[in-house]
Parts: sequence; structure tokens; C-alpha cells
Amino acid sequence: MGVLLERERELEALGGVLAGLPSGGGCLVLVGGEAGIGKTSLLRELERRAGGTLFLVGACEPLSVPVPLQPLRDIAEAAGAADPASGDRVLVARELLAALAARAPVVAVVEDVHWADPTRLDVVRLLARRVEGTGVALVATYRADEAAANPPLAQLLGDRAGGGGEARRSRRRRRRLRRPAHRRQPVPRRGGDRSR
Ligand SMILES: Nc1ncnc2c1ncn2[C@@H]1O[C@H](COP(=O)(O)OP(=O)(O)OP(=O)(O)O)[C@@H](O)[C@H]1O
Ligand SMILES: [Mg+2]
Repeated sequence: MGVLLERERELEALGGVLAGLPSGGGCLVLVGGEAGIGKTSLLRELERRAGGTLFLVGACEPLSVPVPLQPLRDIAEAAGAADPASGDRVLVARELLAALAARAPVVAVVEDVHWADPTRLDVVRLLARRVEGTGVALVATYRADEAAANPPLAQLLGDRAGGGGEARRSRRRRRRLRRPAHRRQPVPRRGGDRSR
């Protein structure tokens, strides 16, 4: 991968989350931004800098028929957990979190949750509620411009703003990526060139 430009602030904030994991931190981190803005690159760079911290990654895909609970099953398998025997969302979340906590400090990345179906997003929400104090950072990436088309995702994003007090805010971080200056297009002027 090439050099990642203008992401020091984000890397510092995420580095702070990682630094808190060995002493029992744990939270949900939502990384949003438009397609191609650099969500995946940011997390790869974070992993590169994180040294020994284990990163387990699963990605949602825009399949015509969704595979049940993918990519959470990929993450569970990588964490050494048995394939979820039932489709019970609470049980799936509990087993997955136990497997992740056993490997802590660990970062579990669920990529592209704008493509996740309601069941997968329910599991992400259940994990987010239980993640505090486990040494697990659950990171979900999403395309911000596609979030509104996925009501359960909009609800997950709204959880943060929708109250719940300090405890909830302290275990959730949300970052919306802006386009780095070198990749910004000049904005065309309206009504002709006024510089003359
Ligand atoms: N900060 C940056 N500096 C330099 N190049 C970048 C930066 N961010 C992203 N890129 C480049 O932009 C391209 C797209 O990045 P990336 O795949 O990380 O975007 P994304 O937000 O994950 O996209 P998608 O929504 O499709 O998953 C890659 O070629 C990557 O190397
Ligand atoms: Mg990506």
C-alpha cells in the first residue's frame, strides 16, 4: 500500500482506543465516509502501526441472497469459536464476544455494514452493548451515503445520538472521514469566473 496522507488525527484517535484495550477497554467504533474515501486503508494502516494487537476482519458483500451472519461467522472462525449452532442473535453475540475476549486485546472489524441485513446489524448492536470492559474493539465501516437506505444501520448510527447517557457514549466512537486535501476536486464556480 502507498503512503496514507492526512489521516494522523484519525490514527491518533483510534490508537487511543487500542491503547486502552489491554487494561480492559472495549467499545464500538463506527468509521463512515463515502465510497473510496479510505476507510479500509485507514484500518490497514492502524493494524500496521498496532504492532502485536490482533485484527480479525470480516466483510459484508452485496450478494443477491445474503449468507446468514456472514461476516460475523468469519470473525468467529478466525477467533477460534465454533460456527454458531443456532441463529439466536443473543446467543451468537454472546459466543462471539466470549471468543474475542479470550483473544484480547483484539480488534474485530466488520467492513461495509451498509450491506448488512437486519440480523447481522442486530448482532453488531448486541455486541456493542456488551463490549465494554472486554478488551475488544469492535469496528464497523460503512458508506455514509448509503446508510439512509438501510434503516437498521441508520438506527445503529442513531443509537449514539439518541441518548443513553455517558456510559453509552463512552463505549462508542464515530468518525466520519473527510476527503484528504490532495484528493479533493476543485469546486466549479457558478455563474462564470468572477476573478476577472
Ligand atoms: N488518506 C489517503 N492517502 C492516500 N491514498 C488514499 C487515502 N485514503 C485512501 N486512499 C486510496 O484510495 C483508494 C480507496 O481507498 P479504500 O479502499 O481504503 O476506500 P474505502 O473507503 O474503504 O472504499 P469502499 O467504500 O469502496 O470500501 C485506495 O487506492 C487507497 O490507497
Ligand atoms: Mg473499504
